[in-house]
Amino acid sequence: MIAQSMDVQPASGGAAAAAGAWDEHATRYAGQERLEARAIEAALRLADPRPQDRVVDLATGTGLLLRSLAARDPRPATATGVDRSSGMLAQVGRLPDEWRVIRGDARCVPLPDGAADVVTCCYLLHLLGMEDRGRVLREARRLLCTAPGSRLVIATVWANPDTIGGRMLNGLLPRLAAASPRRWGGLMPLDPMAELGPAGLAATHRLVLPRGGYPSLVVRARVA
Ligand SMILES: C[S@@+](CC[C@H](N)C(=O)[O-])C[C@H]1O[C@@H](n2cnc3c(N)ncnc32)[C@H](O)[C@@H]1O
Repeated sequence: MIAQSMDVQPASGGAAAAAGAWDEHATRYAGQERLEARAIEAALRLADPRPQDRVVDLATGTGLLLRSLAARDPRPATATGVDRSSGMLAQVGRLPDEWRVIRGDARCVPLPDGAADVVTCCYLLHLLGMEDRGRVLREARRLLCTAPGSRLVIATVWANPDTIGGRMLNGLLPRLAAASPRRWGGLMPLDPMAELGPAGLAATHRLVLPRGGYPSLVVRARVA
């Protein structure tokens, strides 16, 4: 079926304005999805969703992760993408029956506590300030069910500061973002590890992807 979207009010006027910015990018977003593809595949490997798992993808955007997941056999019976931008959601396209997308804020998700066995959140956290990151992580924690094995997988732009290339990128990317936020603001590097604990989460896996797309960090965490 074509992804159905349900309207949910953004949390604030500022949030609505930012969603508008993503609406503008939406039709061009597919052009750079290949730069995300490796990290998205790595995120799915780490998340390892089973057929019975309920998956919630926060900031699903144009649905790259959902579409990759839908192509798997077997795939989860239910998956929900959440994003604030109706323009991005309009690009999601065909998804399996029982899967859906909803327009909503990852800081205040319109789903009940424990609604997910697997929460994914790719390429959102590095776009946010620290307070909003904490809110998103606490929401992810709230959505995870209490069953052992429930898990969150996060992907962020990040370059390893222990390598020369990584140090150069970590110096360069924030400068590019400051000089041209519209063009480069989406590439602010972030290692979210230290922010997991305060949100009630504990990292179990950490994967560094320096090449083959955006330099990225993929982290799997469980409820602490
Ligand atoms: C860089 S895109 C990533 C999209 C997708 N996860 C991917 O990896 O291709 C960031 C997405 O986050 C969404 N977004 C930004 N702030 C959000 C929020 N507070 N709640 C929900 N979605 C948000 C934007 O609308 C956009 O679709």
